[in-house]
Order: sequence, then C-alpha cells, then structure tokens
Amino acid sequence: MEAPNRQMTATWDRATNQLHLHNGRISYLARVLEDGSLGHLYFGPALAPGRGYGHLGPPEFHGFSDRLTEFIALECPTGGGGDFRIPALTVRHADGSAALHLAYAGHRIIAGKPAIPGLPSTYVESPGEAETAEVLLVDAAGAVEVRLLYTIFADAPVIARSVRVRNAGQRQVTVRCAMSASLDLPDARWDLLHLSGTWARERHVVRQALRPGRAAVSSLRGASSHEHNPFVVLARPHATEDQGEAYGFSLVYSGNFRAEAEVDAFGTTRLRLGIEPEGFSWTLDPGEEFSTPEAILAYSGAGLGGLSDAYHRLYRERLARGAWRDRPRPILLNSWEGAYFDVSENRVLAMAAAARELGIELFVLDDGWFGERDDATSSLGDWTVNRRKLPDGLDGLARRVEALGMRFGLWIEPEMVSARSRLFVEHPDWAIGIPGRPRTESRSQLVLDMSRAEIVDHLFGVIGDVLRSAPISYVKWDFNRNITEPFSLALPAERQGEFLHRYVLGVYDLYDRLTREFTDVLFESCAGGGGRFDPGMLAFSPQGWTSDEMDPVERLRIQWGTSLCYPLSSMGAHVAAVPNHQVGRIAPLATRAAVAFFGVLGYELDPTKLDPDERSAIAAQVAFYARHRELFQRGRFVRLRSPFEGDGNEVAWMAVADDRRRAVVGWYRILNHPQAGPGRIPLRGLDPGARYRVTAWPPGDDSMASRNALERGGDDLMSAGILVVASRPETAARGDFQARLFVLEAVDAD
Ligand code: DGJ
Repeated sequence: MEAPNRQMTATWDRATNQLHLHNGRISYLARVLEDGSLGHLYFGPALAPGRGYGHLGPPEFHGFSDRLTEFIALECPTGGGGDFRIPALTVRHADGSAALHLAYAGHRIIAGKPAIPGLPSTYVESPGEAETAEVLLVDAAGAVEVRLLYTIFADAPVIARSVRVRNAGQRQVTVRCAMSASLDLPDARWDLLHLSGTWARERHVVRQALRPGRAAVSSLRGASSHEHNPFVVLARPHATEDQGEAYGFSLVYSGNFRAEAEVDAFGTTRLRLGIEPEGFSWTLDPGEEFSTPEAILAYSGAGLGGLSDAYHRLYRERLARGAWRDRPRPILLNSWEGAYFDVSENRVLAMAAAARELGIELFVLDDGWFGERDDATSSLGDWTVNRRKLPDGLDGLARRVEALGMRFGLWIEPEMVSARSRLFVEHPDWAIGIPGRPRTESRSQLVLDMSRAEIVDHLFGVIGDVLRSAPISYVKWDFNRNITEPFSLALPAERQGEFLHRYVLGVYDLYDRLTREFTDVLFESCAGGGGRFDPGMLAFSPQGWTSDEMDPVERLRIQWGTSLCYPLSSMGAHVAAVPNHQVGRIAPLATRAAVAFFGVLGYELDPTKLDPDERSAIAAQVAFYARHRELFQRGRFVRLRSPFEGDGNEVAWMAVADDRRRAVVGWYRILNHPQAGPGRIPLRGLDPGARYRVTAWPPGDDSMASRNALERGGDDLMSAGILVVASRPETAARGDFQARLFVLEAVDAD
C-alpha cells in the first residue's frame, strides 16, 4: 500500500450528524435522520469534503408512515417496522417479538482498523493507512445495541464494513439475520454479476439485469461453495471491462453466505451481503456480542477492471498475511493426477527427480500418504505416515526430495474423518451427524465437528506433529465434501442454528494457530478444487487451488471469472496430462501452459512418462515462467476479450508490471476457423509514450510472431492493437486450442 493519503478522512459533522468517509477517490456518506435511524446518502466518486449532503437523502424522515417513505435509504435496515424490503438485521426478543427500531446513540472515529474477533479481515500495517468510523445504534426497547463499522483506506476505492450486535438487556436475544452490509442505491438500472458453476467449472461469470423483486446467490453447504462465490457486482448495463460504473460486494467469509439484490416498487435497489440467514440463529446472553464477517464494498467508474484492480491489490497486500504474502511463489509438481493414491517412496522420488530436471522447485505429495489410504474410503483423521508406502517416513522422503534441490510439500484434509479410521473408532461422536438420523454420504467421508474446541485442539496437535516431523515447506489443505445434517452434540437445542458459523470459526482458529506457528510454510487452500475459494481462506492461504479442471479451454473461463475478484497470486494453475482427466480434451502442451502461466504455476502429471520433446518443452516453459514470474503472479491483470461474450471463441488477457515497462499478453483461440480474418486486440494499461519490444512465445513458427517482432509504441498497441492472426493463411497456426503469448518490454527512447 502507498504512503498515507492526506485526503483520507472519516469525519462526523456534529451540526448535521453526517458521516463522510473520503479518500480523494471515493466518498461514502450517511446521516442521522429525524427519527434517529442512520440514513444512507451516497457511495461513489469522491465528493468535496466539508460540505453537507443531506439533500441526497429525504428532506425529513420521522419514521416509516406510509408508502411514500418506503424507499428511504438506510444503513442498517431492520424488520418488523415500516421497511418491507429485505432487512440487514433481524432479532427475536425474549418475548418472541421481532421488531427493531434502531436509533443513533453515538459514534467514534479511530485511526487504523480494528480486527474482528475470531474472523479474518483486511488489516493495516500502520494506523495512517486507514480510518474507521464506528456508529452506535440502539433499539427503542433498549435491549439491543448495534455497532456499524466502516473503514476507509488511504488509497483504495473500497469501504470495509462489519456489524456487531450486543445484548444490552437482561434476557436472551436471538439474532436471526445479521448481514455484514446493506447498500441502498437510488435506481435499478443495474446488471447483477455473479460467479457461479459447480465442481470443475467454478466461477463462470453470469450477468443478468435486475428486475423488480429479488435476485440472490447463496450457499447452504457449510462452505462458500463451488456453486456460488461470496462476490457479486452491480454494473451499469453498458459497463464493460474499462468503462461504466460498477459496485463490488465481497464477503470475507468461507461458510454459508447470501448476496441478494431487491428492486422495490419505486425503482430503488437494495443489496445485502452476509451470512446466509436460512438455518442461522445466534443466541446472545445478556452482555454478549455477535460480530459479522467483513464485507468489502468497492466502487469503480472504470468498469469491471477498476473493481478488479481494487480487490486484487487490497486482497494481495492487506488480506493475505504472513511471510509468503510478498514472496515469489515456487513452481510446483503435484502428485495427484500423476499418481492418485498410488504413491510410494520410489515412485515419488522418481517423479521428483524428473520434475527437478525440468526446473520445478517444489514437489507436493498429494493424497494417499497416510494411514491405510489406498482409495478415498479410509484413513482421514489418521495423520500418521504409511510406512508400507514410505518406509523412511515423511522425514526420509522430504530430505531426499530436498537433496534433489527441491522443496517438499504435503496434502492434508484436517476437517475430515473416514468411517474406516482409528480416529472414528476412538471418537465416533466427533463426526457431524444427528443422533437417530442417517448421515448423507459424500466421498466416503464424514466431517469433524469443528465447532468443538477439543477437536480443534486435537487437530492442532496432530497436524502440528506432522509439520514438525519433516522439512515441509508447503501445505495443501483440502476440504472434499459439504456439510450435511448440521448438528453439534456440544450445543443445546436452542443454539443449533449457531453450528455452521461456529464450524467456520473453528476452521479459522485452526488455520490461525497453524499459520502462526509454521510461519515459513506456504499454505494453499483447496476444497475439491475451488469449493472454498473465498477471501476468508485467502487471509490464511495466500494461494488457493482454483479448480480440479485443468483443461485450458475450461480454465480460460474459470480463471477469467475468478479474476474478477481474486488476484493472480491467489490462483493455483496447473498443467495436466492429456487426454484431460475431466473432459477428455487433447489440447497442445503450449496452450495448457499459456493458460496456467497466469497465476501460480504448477504441473500435475507424471513427469517420468514424458517423451523427450515434452520434457524439453516443459523445461522451456518453466524457465520462461520463472523469468516472468513477477508479472504472472503480481502483475496487474487486464482482461481483454471475454470467453463469456459473443461466441467466446477468442479470449485475451494480459499482465502488466506496475511501472508499465513490461507486460505479457495471452491470446487464445479455441476452435480454428478457415480463412480467419486479420485479428487485432487493443491492449490496455501500457504507457502510451513508451516503445515496446514485442516477442512471441512459444518462439515463432508463423508470421504472427514476425509481424509483431518489432518495436511498437504503447499508443499503437493500445489503439491499433496487437496482431494476432497470421498475415497469410498458409502460415497460420493450425489446429484447435491455439494460444500465443506476447512479451512486451519497454526499450529506452533513442
Ligand atoms: C481434491 C483436490 O482438489 C485434488 O487436487 C486432490 O487433492 C484430491 N482432492 C485428493 O483427494
């Protein structure tokens, strides 16, 4: 993050009771209305500080009285009063009633940003990087206090929001719905964008116009899910990658969530984001407090790309933590698709030795190394090495891998237990389930009750022992099934609605303890591919396994969609063997690499089975990636041509260095066509005044390379575009699934 921005302020004007969060890029404004509620005034491009903006809200508001007040914009809408839109906060009082009338009772402005108890959140490294406003609202009946927290960062077009609900009364109160943020916008000319899919095709971009009524994405799976992601965008219908207004809403959370937009009869829009209310409740004894996860709201006047820039930087620099946050990430070989469960010391060492010859830096031993694990039906929970497969243990193996000149990494799935395991025999009551009911089967495994401290303590002990037992530099933390029959034996009946959130808190606790103890270990999160690829995980694991699908055609869509919110440094991207294990497609090796380069590169195949041509091609890929690693992992990612628009047959994107002196462009054509016309892709993000040397990768076998192989101006490349189709049909690249990269390097002016 940059040096503190003097323009950044969170100010409260006592005369008008107006809150203005301002940083020269955006403003966020709220005001106490006449009935005491906190009204929303504005979120968008920066407005001059020091002025009153009450005119952006109602002239006066003394409480909901009739239809004419129903569209009033509020910061924390509640149910049971005259606001009939979706609420942000609902409680059940001791008498069974559910109405809340929240009125302003005070505020404070603090330098920096407080942490949220038990939950991951964005942070600052010095108090000058951000200011936080905390506004206290109290229910008319006095028993419920609500604190709304808003953080403005010095140099990011985002507002971080969270909510704390405290029982200030004498009897129990139950929170039924506690959204992290609710935003009222004055019109409904918005498209809702979300990232949806399923296993092996996660985070495809879906765009739909808002209509009167509600539109929502959510997860009820106990994890953020493959199906939906806790990230949505409201974009103007004409908004593109680089133009038009867009608001982003991202939840720093890994469990059940809901993102929901409602267009009311007056054509206003409310968007709420937070923990999924279905099935949720949280009982507060007198004096207790509940904290919601954090929501990050972003504004861009420069299209979706502007939003991505904001999220990428914030999440890479002030959400991800630890020693690996800023370090170049190693190029790895993962054993899964190359060996599956069939791992043994000899096989693993042969794979590692072959990988090392290719220049690969880290060997990751995936599933199959522990207990009696020969397939998916046993041993989860028994985190002791299988000596039949690895006679010298993890230590012996890891040291031999290190002797090859590589680091050693390991797969674990701590939250799970197999019915066929010692752990389950010893602690059958540790697995989630409802006494007297059958458990829903999934991948032959059960989920441990992570809401229980003794189970988290046990896992911290046994996983800690594993990590201490050998020189382990990397951990892939998997989560291969969702949670069914949610229930904890440790919770009383009236608190079972807390279970899934307590589960997530337990996972965070374990992650927190392990990452704090093993500070030099690089953690990669995983959930059967990308089933928990969310900002909550990113706070502990600076990279995540994006998807089990590695076919490049599928990956173009997955990585494009993922990049809307998540930075390149967070996306694990591997080259796999062909035919692809999921879809059977046979894409050229160069194309597989040219897609996987944009992220944290790995290979997931058996390198002992490669032919000499493949070996030399991969060695060249590894060397190429290593040379441009900084760009591929930390460059500004600019999306150029979408796989979700038109026929989606041509896709292009690029990564640009912060100083704009270097960039790599990726261009992909899925199906080839006869007589393809001249192709030009206008680039973005370059220095218009600079001259760039353009080289093609893989090195030229057609005129595409030579036509660009000259020095071209940044203005030329951005306005006229890079040339992507061969000048003469007979020299055109042949076949489907083509890819071409262009490396741009600024040359000094002559
Ligand atoms: C699912 C992961 O996504 C795969 O990469 C692999 O680790 C398997 N689980 C192992 O069971």
